[in-house]
Amino acid sequence: MHIPVMSAEVVGALNPMPGKTIVDCTLGYGGHALALLESGANVIGIDQDNEILKKVKERIPSNKNITFFHGNFADINNIIKTPVDGFLFDLGVSSFQIDEAGRGFSIRFDGPLDMRMDQGVGKPASFYINNLTEEELAKIFFEYGQERFSKRIARRICAERLKKTISTTFELKEIIEKAIPTWKKRESATRIFQALRIFINSELNNLSQALSDSISLLKSGGRICVISYHSLEDRIAKNFFRKLKLDGILDVLTKKPMTAGEGEIVKNPRAKSAKMRIAEKI
Ligand SMILES: C[S@@+](CC[C@H](N)C(=O)[O-])C[C@H]1O[C@@H](n2cnc3c(N)ncnc32)[C@H](O)[C@@H]1O
Repeated sequence: MHIPVMSAEVVGALNPMPGKTIVDCTLGYGGHALALLESGANVIGIDQDNEILKKVKERIPSNKNITFFHGNFADINNIIKTPVDGFLFDLGVSSFQIDEAGRGFSIRFDGPLDMRMDQGVGKPASFYINNLTEEELAKIFFEYGQERFSKRIARRICAERLKKTISTTFELKEIIEKAIPTWKKRESATRIFQALRIFINSELNNLSQALSDSISLLKSGGRICVISYHSLEDRIAKNFFRKLKLDGILDVLTKKPMTAGEGEIVKNPRAKSAKMRIAEKI
């Protein structure tokens, strides 16, 4: 079950009410969308994962004011036709995606090494693991995973794939674990998986593109709320808001990012790394 993170804070930030239209760019299982719909707002819900869209369509009652879109939020310029009152980005993957072995996102489950949020687009992680050069792999692991053993891990992958094609999550996890000192195994495997996921799904580029396009689609007084789960995406939101504040386009409502309270973190450990930033169009 995916529990929405900082849901009360999202409602506080976007101030949903009848007559307002809010774009939930990361609809997922619709936890945040339901909270926004409860307050009477119209919601445009976007997700690039068709599997999750099927689930959320079954979850949200048909009498609610929501329009569903299968697509990438980097494409909001083509999806949104008239100015709206708010944008929500609750970044990353949902528990549904992580807990589904067949999607290949987690080191905890054995499955095909895929990691695409939209399985109809691009190539699975196994393609890149078996085809990129040692230098390219090391760069991805270092830039997106901040992994200090990036080079050693990339070297090991390239040696192992000469013996046998790497096609499952457990095969990759074992190779990573063999490449590094004993006490760092789990953390490194987690970071390498995160790095691959960010790379394969172009997560950072998509966020930059969507934030930049959201401005012209936002009404004056409309708000953007970004919840991020690692420093690379938080930095993009922070720098974007800062630049547009200097340009006199946005007011930044969070000097420092908001974080989840202790009570929420106990109930939902995923909330621990969440950072929320909010800005308002002048
Ligand atoms: C953390 S979950 C969102 C959970 C949701 N807020 C809820 O309450 O259930 C992130 C969702 O965003 C989707 N997603 C991530 N990047 C996306 C992108 N660039 N375009 C569209 N959807 C994206 C993922 O497929 C995933 O379902």
